Amino acid sequence: MDDSIAVAPDQLVQRHAQPGRSLLAVLHAIQDELGYVPPAAVAPLARAMNLSRAEVHGVITYYHHFRTQPAAPVTVQLCRAEACRSMGTEALAQHIEAHTGCRFDVHHDAEHQHGATVELESVYCLGQCALSPALMLNGTLHAKVTPQKFDAIFAAASKRVEVTA
Ligand code: FES
Repeated sequence: MDDSIAVAPDQLVQRHAQPGRSLLAVLHAIQDELGYVPPAAVAPLARAMNLSRAEVHGVITYYHHFRTQPAAPVTVQLCRAEACRSMGTEALAQHIEAHTGCRFDVHHDAEHQHGATVELESVYCLGQCALSPALMLNGTLHAKVTPQKFDAIFAAASKRVEVTA
């Protein structure tokens, strides 16, 4: 696991763990800044919040939202809730897995071992139920997604990653 971060964990925690702020708010702030919550921040967070390391770790792992590694360059969040399911999201999920060669909701550590540039995540409702199936690709919302539409937006995103790499 690559735990190298640009800022020292202590400084990171000091900056965000202000008095009166809840652990959840601090974790959100750290993730907003870095894109993930580095494991090296757990100990200073525990000290700052007067909690055990196990408690901090427990909160990070309980909430699916928090990640402990940077996101892959291309991340797909596919809605698998009821409205999208009724409009074929499961068939779309199979297509996406076949097309990308990745699997949904594989543990991040396992993905990084393979040097993955694509991460597939299931989410439950993106607020686009009337326009299902819906997904987010690198933070951009796409509605009424067909396999063909997915292939096109995925190709465009992959190209952007190659260009900026
Ligand atoms: S159920 Fe998929 S966007 Fe609401």
